[in-house]
Amino acid sequence: ALERTFSIIKPDAVAKNLIGAIYQRFEAAGLKIVASKMVHLSREQAEGFYAEHSERPFFKALVGFMTSGPVMVQVLEGEDAVRRNREIMGATNPADALAGTLRADYANSIDENAVHGSDAPASAAREIAYFFSDEEICPRTR
Ligand code: CMP
Repeated sequence: ALERTFSIIKPDAVAKNLIGAIYQRFEAAGLKIVASKMVHLSREQAEGFYAEHSERPFFKALVGFMTSGPVMVQVLEGEDAVRRNREIMGATNPADALAGTLRADYANSIDENAVHGSDAPASAAREIAYFFSDEEICPRTR
């Protein structure tokens, strides 16, 4: 089905000047960028976004890292967008990521792993709404 998913290019990848390279991967895979912006997350924004992880031992480090520099947030649209984006990203831990995936090629570690992508359509809807208003999303008609 035609879906939307939510994506973040994390501070490590922005710092390495990889925004264009990563956008190229999305577009080459047939995912269309229908909303995009750069943001430097506040602690409150990062804590709210990752609230489901608040009891995990890595939560404090995760929030510290995600607020350490600017990120790019984007909405990707396409057939099976959630699963397709997860395939392009590769496993959360770059040590487990298949060759040719974003995390295999660009991640530093499980913490600094270059990109985030929604894990299911329901979380995609929640994550998109966390960062974008309806007016900021531009569906493609051509
Ligand atoms: P992300 O998809 O952004 O969601 C939560 C992040 O926590 C995850 O990517 C990883 O970068 C980070 N993280 C650190 N340790 C772990 C872990 N043990 N399991 C899952 N995520 C982890």
